[in-house]
Parts: sequence; structure tokens; C-alpha cells
Amino acid sequence: MHSLSARPAVQALRSSKIREVANAGMGRKDVIAFWFGEPDEVTPDFIRQAGIEALQRGDTFYTENFGIPELRKTIAAYVARLHAPACKVTADNVTVTSSGMSALMLANQALVGPGDRVVIVTPVWPNLVEIPRILGAEAVTFPLDYTPAGWKLDLQRLLAALTPATRMVCINSPNNPTGWTISREEQRAILDHCRRLGIWILADDAYERLVYGAGVAPSFLDIADAADRLVSANTFSKSWLMTGWRLGWLVAPVELMPYLGTLTEYNTSCAPSFVQHAGIVAIEQGEPVIARTQQRFRHARDFLAAKLAEIPGVEAALPAGAMYTFFKVQGVTDSLAFCKRLVEESGLGLAPGIAFGPEGEGFIRWCFASGEERLQQGVDRLKASILHR
Ligand SMILES: Cc1ncc(COP(=O)(O)O)c(C=O)c1O
Repeated sequence: MHSLSARPAVQALRSSKIREVANAGMGRKDVIAFWFGEPDEVTPDFIRQAGIEALQRGDTFYTENFGIPELRKTIAAYVARLHAPACKVTADNVTVTSSGMSALMLANQALVGPGDRVVIVTPVWPNLVEIPRILGAEAVTFPLDYTPAGWKLDLQRLLAALTPATRMVCINSPNNPTGWTISREEQRAILDHCRRLGIWILADDAYERLVYGAGVAPSFLDIADAADRLVSANTFSKSWLMTGWRLGWLVAPVELMPYLGTLTEYNTSCAPSFVQHAGIVAIEQGEPVIARTQQRFRHARDFLAAKLAEIPGVEAALPAGAMYTFFKVQGVTDSLAFCKRLVEESGLGLAPGIAFGPEGEGFIRWCFASGEERLQQGVDRLKASILHR
């Protein structure tokens, strides 16, 4: 008998537990949802206009696999400006992708294959763990340590986990869901170690501009040189409020670029032409948007932290970056059941910590990219639900 199933590695993929909660409440008008990682505002008008103008000009054709040269140059100049003076990135190191997700998939496709050991620092957005698994690699999770003051990296333990047999380490900082942000010293130690052992570093820099206290988070790009096995994945989704546009990029050594081009051909061929044109305008004119977003989210983060602190049994450390509060509720041992109950009984949509790995169990993720009034409504529902347990 022929099976109608997908191959075993695909059958073994976890389905999203965030979706499992969301499916229980989507479509219900009374639900206030903070479960997805998405800013609450529509893409700024000048970026939308750039997309419209590109469409009206007739930018509706395939582009180069690497993206249109003008966007590659614009991204390279942006990256070099953020990460100068060490960073020698030029357009030859940049490839445009159809989302940050696609950038991460392409980087993994280029670098890891069946049986390769890939170490991923967790808790983390589940996609980073499942991507190597799709490719048949061995995804080894390395948990951060929780302390009431926030999540910490046990550097020596991580270095010990990065054995000579390791092909790649994947680090998302600022981190979704914990907000953990790696320090420069930790980056240096990891880079030195990976240089010695020939291990690739995949840095997921999706939230590098969402840090509270600095304009940009420490990046491996600040300290790496052209010979380093470093790939940085990024996206327009968060910094420029462009989740639905599906545009991102990779920065990689020039030696890797031809392979990324070929893989792009066999994934998407290219990102949509008019979307790429909007991306140029987003970077060129978007700094005030980023500054305003940082300010808004910082305010939202502080507001939510203060409100959560008032609820008995809730422990919420202040995240250094990204747009999530990952908080603990005393007595919750099944975050999925807790979140389902919250939706059903209180109309509050949050993401269960277990979705981000076993070390996330007992925690709940709240995306605070939202206005004060909505956050307050959510807090009221959570408080009522916890107090009446
Ligand atoms: C850690 C992390 N990396 C990458 C992405 C990719 O975003 P996108 O595919 O929208 O570019 C996300 C989105 O939530 C994320 O949380």
C-alpha cells in the first residue's frame, strides 16, 4: 500500500501551539488578541505609496534572484551604517528574500543537511528549530536560564555544547519570546569559539532595531570579518511595520552568495518587484518610523510590566528587546491549557510558553505592540481570570 503521508521528517514537525490557541478564538469579535508577533499599526503611508507607485509604473516582472541592485545597495549601506566601522558589507554580501522566514530557510538550505548538528538557543520562535528538522538535520536546543530578573545565557555551557561536530549555531537576539539580548562579550566568545572549530553562526536579527536603551542591538556583524562563517537574517516586518509584505534579506560571505542565488531560484525566484521598490523607500525614509516605534513599544513594555506586577502570582521581567513580555503565572504548569481557557472564558488571546520549547512551559507570551487602552483591557481580563481561578 502506498502511503498518502508526507515524508517522516515532515510528519514529525510540531504544529504551532500559538495557532492551536488562536484557532479557538479567531473570528470571535469579543476576543482581544496579543498572541501573534505583529505590530498593531498599518504600514506607514509613504511606504504604501511607494508600493502603489511601483505597481502603477508597471514593476510587475521577475527581478534578479538576488533582488534589484538598488535595493541590495540600499540594504548594504544601511547595514554598513548600523554596524560600522567593523562591518565591510557591500551589495555583494546581500541577497533580498521574500520574508525573514524565507531568509532563514535559505540560509539553512545552504548550510545544513541530513544528520548535521545544529544548536539553537531557546526558548525561541519555533520556526528556528523546525527549519533544520525539515532538512533532516539534528536540531539540538540549548536553553537560556530563567531568573526573576530575566533570561541569562550560560556562556561556558553553550561553548561546551558547540562541539567540533556542530555545523551551525542559531541565535535570535533580541529574542522572541523572552526579549533576551546577547552582550558584546558573549558574542566575542562565541565568534572566537566558532572560528576555532569552523562552526557557522546564523544570527536572526529580526528585532535588532527593537531594543530599549539603544538604537540597535549588538550584532555579530559588528565584530565579524569577511572570512567568518556568519550569516545574518533580517526582515522588513518588524522595524518598518511590513509583516504582510513578505520582504527580508540575508548578509553572507561572498563565497556563499552564488549558492544563495541558486537556492532563491528554486524557492521563490525573487521577491515581488513592487515590494522591493517599497523596501528601498522604507529604508531610505524610515528612520523616524523606527524611532517612533521604539518609543511606543518602550512605553507599552513599561506600562504592561507595571500592570502585570500588580497581579498576585504573576512574575514578569522587563525585556531588553523585541516586543514581548514572557511572564510566569504561579501554579500554571500547562500553558497551552491555560491560554485556551483564557480565550474561552475571558476572551483574552495570549501565546502559551510551551510553543517556544519545553523551557517555556509555565510562561505566557504577550505581544505588547499595542496601545495603552487595549493593553489595559487585556490586563483587566487576565486579572479577573487569575483572581477567580
Ligand atoms: C525571531 C523571528 N525571526 C524571524 C521572523 C520572521 O519574520 P517575517 O517572516 O515576517 O519576515 C520572526 C517573525 O515573527 C521572528 O519572530
